[in-house]
Amino acid sequence: MHSELSPEELLGTTVGAYALDRLIGQGGFAWVFVARRQDDGSIVALKVLKPRYAGDPEFERRFRNEAKVASEFNHPNIVRILDIGRTDQITYFAMDYYPDNLSSRLEREGPLPEAALIRMAREVGSALHFAHQAGIVHRDIKPGNIMFTAEGAAVVTDFGIARAVSGYVSATGVNLTIGTPHYVSPEQAQGQKLDGRSDLYSLGVTLYKAATGQLPFRSSDWFELARMHVEVPPPPPRSKRPELSRRLERVILKCLAKHPDDRYRSAAELLAELESMEDQARKTESFGLAPAEISAPIDRTALKRWILAIAAILVMLAVAAIVVAVGRR
Ligand SMILES: Nc1ncnc2c1ncn2[C@@H]1O[C@H](COP(=O)(O)OP(=O)(O)OP(=O)(O)O)[C@@H](O)[C@H]1O
Ligand SMILES: [Mg+2]
Repeated sequence: MHSELSPEELLGTTVGAYALDRLIGQGGFAWVFVARRQDDGSIVALKVLKPRYAGDPEFERRFRNEAKVASEFNHPNIVRILDIGRTDQITYFAMDYYPDNLSSRLEREGPLPEAALIRMAREVGSALHFAHQAGIVHRDIKPGNIMFTAEGAAVVTDFGIARAVSGYVSATGVNLTIGTPHYVSPEQAQGQKLDGRSDLYSLGVTLYKAATGQLPFRSSDWFELARMHVEVPPPPPRSKRPELSRRLERVILKCLAKHPDDRYRSAAELLAELESMEDQARKTESFGLAPAEISAPIDRTALKRWILAIAAILVMLAVAAIVVAVGRR
């Protein structure tokens, strides 16, 4: 029956217009294959709903609806959905195929250089800004959902899919949690209503991982992990990787604020900050300074101390001048 079907059995077969060549991987409810369109030979990634879910009309409907919404997005940093289809047994959609993603890149290369972190954050931020304006919260931002083009640009996949799942869960009461809870926002962990700022938190966790090689919170227990996201302050990224700029650390920690009101107000606000960092880095380069020298923010306490010291010296000079003037009379 349906539930017996394994992804390997589909290899070498065709689904709709596509021949399935290789299994890339699987998530909570779907398999992803490298596939070839038979008419023009183009290579795509084919996301196939596991038969267990495809057999459930409510789930299948939500999955297709969300894929439809995402397929209408047209943005350079959002994966293009090329086709949505269904055969007797199989529900699938085809999208652009990317050989690399952030999860594999981190495994291969370790933490990314600062300029690459800022670029990736800006590109993901730009995708989020676009989707949020269209009223869609991603809900599952994490390294496995961030692909890279051959030019190294970040492209976000799986828009709307998590919404299909959570809508299904609340409509049917079926207990189905997707993916890992390592990237969930505090409000998500508590089952509260979400807005775009929840994605900024998950992007913060993703950046933390990409910047330091570590997650801010680790536990094999779902509830403990959820509690940490809600209550425990993340260790500052520079305690793990001191060469990060203070400015980038501030960006990551602001995304990771527990309360949405303490994060960036919107993806647009985050984007503006990242663009200004890139501008600053470009100027620094043209002045031949090391990025760390110029990207280090002004240390306010040191500045206050200097101002006080200068004020004290001026007061002393003034007093000395008065004393001298009085003495001359
Ligand atoms: N367009 C794509 N091109 C190349 N690889 C992809 C593409 N979309 C997904 N993948 C890869 O396929 C694998 C399975 O993806 P899938 O989205 O099913 O699971 P996931 O993102 O790991 O978990 P979740 O169920 O939470 O989404 C992942 O390794 C993912 O990076
Ligand atoms: Mg995915």
